[in-house]
Amino acid sequence: MSKNVLLLPGDGIGPEIVTEARKVLENVNAKFGLGLELSEAKVGGSAIDATGKPLPEETLTACKAADAILLGAVGGPKWDTNPDFAIRPEKGLLGIRSELELFGNLRPAILYPQLAHASTLKEEVVSGLDILIVRELTGGIYFGKPRGVREKEGGIREGYNTYVYDENEIRRIGRVAFEAARARNKKLCSVDKANVLEVTVLWREIMEELKAEYPDVELSHMYVDNAAMQLVRAPKQFDVIVTGNMFGDILSDAAAMLTGSIGMLPSASLDKNGKGMYEPCHGSAPDIAGQGKANPLATILSAAMMLRYSLDQGEAADAIEQAVSKVLDQGLRTPDILSAGMRQVSTSEMGDAVVAALA
Ligand code: NAI
Ligand code: MG
Repeated sequence: MSKNVLLLPGDGIGPEIVTEARKVLENVNAKFGLGLELSEAKVGGSAIDATGKPLPEETLTACKAADAILLGAVGGPKWDTNPDFAIRPEKGLLGIRSELELFGNLRPAILYPQLAHASTLKEEVVSGLDILIVRELTGGIYFGKPRGVREKEGGIREGYNTYVYDENEIRRIGRVAFEAARARNKKLCSVDKANVLEVTVLWREIMEELKAEYPDVELSHMYVDNAAMQLVRAPKQFDVIVTGNMFGDILSDAAAMLTGSIGMLPSASLDKNGKGMYEPCHGSAPDIAGQGKANPLATILSAAMMLRYSLDQGEAADAIEQAVSKVLDQGLRTPDILSAGMRQVSTSEMGDAVVAALA
């Protein structure tokens, strides 16, 4: 049965890195007989230029019809200062996330041994690091109502937001995390602030309830302040972390930086059926766009996650990840990960090298 994969190159370095991911996908498609049908659509600044909207109807329809989506990046100085927020590039991304209800955000932080020196932490603290943060992406305090700034007695202004999760929202992100833990090392740490916030008392209860469905997964709980500390003290104690939108935003950025290289980090955002949008963690890097300097590996690794989590093709995903490791072993580096004694390559040379390593 064929599977529909939609590519959204976007802006800046987006088209360059997605071109390389496409090469890799076409290669594994043929090699493993995956039956992938690849198509492309516009989103972000390129879509604004073409249609006046960051998320044209046609693109949204294609997103809904696709089995999985691979996005490059959106944004750039040409569009980012538009006073009308509705026609800024990131509206395109947020639109897809909310329209498709992509509530499950998976952000692995993997330190490739070949790049161990790139971390700001001591090598022994991070070497071999391979953790996964599962963040709830469409609820919590970022979306809770009421919200705003109001005036109270005496003309004093106060800002307020609402931190709310219902049990169904907690259960569905919990399942994503338990499933991910089951597919890895069967260790899940749920991060909350149950000593202070009622909403996370419920969070903890639901995670405990889910444990009955996943007796093979070891569940632990940690307060978010301690989790932040533990992530930089001894990150390898974790395997999978699950947490709400705001705590996940902060912890996943901190975890990403343990690996030291933004050009290497993939991500996934999933809906309740496991359909998802996959993208590198970095942005459109306008400073290096069009120069062949962009590192395509985060996007290529996002394509591997897409095969694993949305298309049930773990073998092809493993093959891509191994090919990436092999090109790093060969000493090939784009400028962002270059160090002494290594060979500098361009964006397309890196993509070609991954394809060659797949052979
Ligand atoms: P950025 O991630 O685009 O760039 C930060 C720095 O990292 C730059 O020096 C850039 O050259 C470098 N960099 C990023 N990706 C790289 C890669 N693959 N290879 C080599 N170097 C890389 O973040 P910045 O500069 O804050 O934002 C630039 C634009 O990207 C803005 O318009 C922003 O809104 C957008 N953005 C889009 C995101 C998305 O599409 N998901 C996420 C973050 C930012
Ligand atoms: Mg963030």
